[in-house]
Amino acid sequence: MDTKLVVADFEDWRQTVDEAIALLEQGEVVALPTETVYGLAADAFNAEAVAKVFEIKERPSFDPLIVHIGHKRDLEKVAMVPEELDELVDELIEAYWPGPLTLVLPKRPEVPDIVTSGLDTVAVRISAHEVMRGVSRQMPVAAPSANRFGRISPTSAQAVIEELGGKIPLVIDGGACRDGVESTIVAPAMEEKGLVLRMMRPGPIPKEDLRKFAKVVKPKKTKADHIESPGQIESHYAPTTPMIFMDKKVTFEPEEGKSYGLLSYRGEGNASLVEKHDWDAIEMMSPGKGKLAEGAVRLFYCLRALDAAGVDVIVAEAVSETGIGVAINDRLRRASVGSGK
Ligand code: TXA
Ligand code: MG
Repeated sequence: MDTKLVVADFEDWRQTVDEAIALLEQGEVVALPTETVYGLAADAFNAEAVAKVFEIKERPSFDPLIVHIGHKRDLEKVAMVPEELDELVDELIEAYWPGPLTLVLPKRPEVPDIVTSGLDTVAVRISAHEVMRGVSRQMPVAAPSANRFGRISPTSAQAVIEELGGKIPLVIDGGACRDGVESTIVAPAMEEKGLVLRMMRPGPIPKEDLRKFAKVVKPKKTKADHIESPGQIESHYAPTTPMIFMDKKVTFEPEEGKSYGLLSYRGEGNASLVEKHDWDAIEMMSPGKGKLAEGAVRLFYCLRALDAAGVDVIVAEAVSETGIGVAINDRLRRASVGSGK
């Protein structure tokens, strides 16, 4: 299959939305930009189209998708908000939609089971990117990140082509993603002690901000064979090159004869590993400045670049565990677990 690449220009992005809709209405899947990472979208109410998403991504059927809606009022088409959560959900939506916050809520029966992997909850958000939002205004779409399962998420149209070129009919190029890591996922819930937000995946909206709305807790421990949030799959976002994540406990000891690439947070200085070894390749997430938001935007780009650099091993520095840094470390940790395969 030829994959068509269409650029969503500042002025005529609406035309590209129409082009995507025409394919989606035929049950096709298309790659669309969002503010977090590029998504692979299908009509959320067309089970066969959604099945294609799983097939193309080689994604296991137990890993549910996020439904993207275009209007707040469309929430009731896909989810049912229990009365006890109504106010909290309203406040979160008011504060963060459109934007990188995904809410896990009881699902409406009309949403095909394949979207939610048979769970009785659905994950839903409104994207802040004109193109994704423009599409989902006309049609709610189920869209995971547009990468092969377990691999590095795409933050540019070029990265989507590298991942899925030849397998999908259309990629809309909406530029580099503004946030660079996937949305924060929370499940609002009423527990014995009151309202909580179960943090299913760290993302651009940090825990510190969400605390203003309700207590933020870890997701419930689940039975071994049932994952409440498969976003927590340990191995994910992974380069094919083996990767070491420099958690506090780890020290870097190079092996004789091996080549190493460094993913550095800000480059030289400030406890950086840059001067500690004669690296064969170096990528810096936030060159010089050490800005976590910039680090997030460049994270997956840098990982791809190092994966393509032909080194034997990638070494990734940890960033500070605050704000969006929590999401960066989370992705690096899981990338290292799944790496080298
Ligand atoms: O920023 C994002 O969220 C991007 C863009 C494209 O919107 N999408 C994304 O999708 O990251 P994906 O499939 O890569 O990750 C979605 C994750 C799943 O792995 C799963 O953990 C979680 O969302 N999820 C989906 N439905 C869920 C549910 N009912 N309960 C708990 N977690 C759910
Ligand atoms: Mg993903």
